[in-house]
Amino acid sequence: MNQPKRYLVTSALPYANGLKHIGHLAGAYIPADIYVRYLRAQKKDVVFVCGSDEHGTAIPIQAMKEGTTAQAIIDKYHPIIEQNFKDLGISFNIYHRTSAPIHHTTAQEFFTTLNDNGNLEIKESEQYYDEETKTFLADRFIKGTCPNCGNDGAYGDQCEKCGKSLSPDELINPVSTLSGKTPIKKITKHWYLPLDKHEDFLREWVLKEHKDNWRSNVVGQCKSWIDGGLQPRAVTRDLDWGIKVPVKNAEGKVLYVWFDAPIGYISATKQWALDNDKDWKPYWFNNDTQLVHFIGKDNIVFHSIIFPIMLKLHGNILPAFVTSNEFMNLEGDKMSTSRGWSIEMDEYINDWIKQENGGESMADVLRYYLTAIAPETKDSEFTWKGFQDANNNELVSIFGNYVNRTFVLMHKLCNGKVPVFHNNLIDETDKELIESIQNSKIKIQNYLEEFKFRDAQFEVIDLARKANQYMQKKEPWILAKSLNENPENQKLIDNCLHLCLQLTANLAIFINPFLPFTAKKMLHMLKVVDKMLDWQNAGSLKLLSVGYSLREPQLLFRKIENEEIAAQLEKLKLKSQQSKENKVEEIKQSETIPLKPEIVFDDFAKIDLRVGTITAAEKVEKADKLLKLSVDLGFETRTIVSGIALYFKPEDIVGKQVTVVCNLAPRKMRGIESNGMILMAEDKNGKLHFVNPDNKIDEGSGVS
Ligand code: 2FM
Ligand code: ZN
Repeated sequence: MNQPKRYLVTSALPYANGLKHIGHLAGAYIPADIYVRYLRAQKKDVVFVCGSDEHGTAIPIQAMKEGTTAQAIIDKYHPIIEQNFKDLGISFNIYHRTSAPIHHTTAQEFFTTLNDNGNLEIKESEQYYDEETKTFLADRFIKGTCPNCGNDGAYGDQCEKCGKSLSPDELINPVSTLSGKTPIKKITKHWYLPLDKHEDFLREWVLKEHKDNWRSNVVGQCKSWIDGGLQPRAVTRDLDWGIKVPVKNAEGKVLYVWFDAPIGYISATKQWALDNDKDWKPYWFNNDTQLVHFIGKDNIVFHSIIFPIMLKLHGNILPAFVTSNEFMNLEGDKMSTSRGWSIEMDEYINDWIKQENGGESMADVLRYYLTAIAPETKDSEFTWKGFQDANNNELVSIFGNYVNRTFVLMHKLCNGKVPVFHNNLIDETDKELIESIQNSKIKIQNYLEEFKFRDAQFEVIDLARKANQYMQKKEPWILAKSLNENPENQKLIDNCLHLCLQLTANLAIFINPFLPFTAKKMLHMLKVVDKMLDWQNAGSLKLLSVGYSLREPQLLFRKIENEEIAAQLEKLKLKSQQSKENKVEEIKQSETIPLKPEIVFDDFAKIDLRVGTITAAEKVEKADKLLKLSVDLGFETRTIVSGIALYFKPEDIVGKQVTVVCNLAPRKMRGIESNGMILMAEDKNGKLHFVNPDNKIDEGSGVS
């Protein structure tokens, strides 16, 4: 493509089902924000969209955990996450919601277009069904053992341990997350996107066209999906939480969350355009738009295989870049909110930003460290010690120290004003520094355009490092000591501080995409307006006018003490311990069937329990669960209809002794009168077991 005319940058829409941790932040949000801030500084037309993903089974599952409704969950977490991003300087143009009506209509229109054009297939198939809750078990409504890594808590859509994408049929020993019961299979109808029909397009587009300009982790994952054989993928679900399938006779069906969520990027753009009196269409239909997705590793196939097929079929532009990181671990283990091994954005903000005046600089410290250790090509590791070192040894000692020294010396040796530069006194050291500024600009620019944020940020700090060395070499404070004997020294001092100040202004421009709060503080000290941060100003040595008086310095960063780091480590341990204890408690609770309300002895005595022997058993027609039993009670033989057919074959239970509730009023089931009930034990998976005497005894014996 020639120079794009406009940019549409997206960050993955986080599920509004809980707090998000700093691993998420490092993956899809900070890199996107750096890129967008850089584009804005270049005066590009750029829209940065994100928002809450509010559908899918993740939301009702959280609602069950919190004992509330799905709506209450999204209304609780959406504003918290939105505010967390703001506090960390993530500068979305809009943070939208997929529950918004404009999103529902946009997603339905998208589905209708594909369906009307014959791009979807309709198929009937058997799917897991929970009889107790009368729910089809898609995605996270079903759990089981992962066939790939053996994790016994894998979901029906993905194993969170090994990251493998799964379908419910692949799970070993599946159970319903809703009731804990073993599901049955039931026929249902769904709409499918035939990925297999688009294999040629994908091979050409991802594996050839983007082979060299996309990160290898993205191309690699696509290749293994394509080589593994693409299958039609259901884009609807039997659920009551989500966007209704806009077709007649599709009651109880909603769009698959991964069909509607990426369309959220489009509806967010529409809402942004409405709010700002703009046209949204060029951003999604014109080829001179550059669409860039920033996502987490487990979202790759959706953004580089499924959504692009949808976009192509719908007539939209395709993403120019899909950028994903690898995983960021925490103190030697995988980050996980549910295991308590994580630092939530909200937690960081409360501990570090809200605690102190001017705490925004701590937002920049986190942005800095997460970028410095970004897992761009391989997994990386967040450690609190690393965080402290990055702050103390790089931000405080190199960047902050340089800016502070420059300001202090300028106030002391140049009357608080930008000194003049004497061209005739320029020397090799000055020239080297000037050259470094120009080189850094080119390097930072190239790195950013290649999505190498880590290298780009390193280059900014490296320039500050060179600037410190320059000052150290020039030693204006030594020159000042002999000013009386050598008044000409003032000129050398002026030259040094003039260059140092111009370099400080350049550093503000360079650091702005990475550490926006710091750049703002620097603008204040330099007494210049935001406009100075325009990228075209980078490299200039005329950013500050001679004679212009500047403010007193403020410290850009503060030192982080060992005690603060020790406290965070302790907190992490406690959190994980607490989470383990909660899990054990949860398991205990889920394994214990709650007791029924107390009864008096007379209530119990009313029940007539007798031992009987099953003498005949047969299936009840058109009733999967029922068996018709003949039970010999000694004094008579009763017909009893019992719901045990899923667990026992008729021929296996003839001769078994059972306990029968004999004085239960007769009840008709499937036209057969049932005279009594047999007692069975039910385990935690819903499986039934006989409760019978340990030795055969006379029929009709009483049980009490
Ligand atoms: O993995 C997730 O958190 C998803 N909610 C990401 C969705 S990205 C996009 F498609 F909206
Ligand atoms: Zn697994």
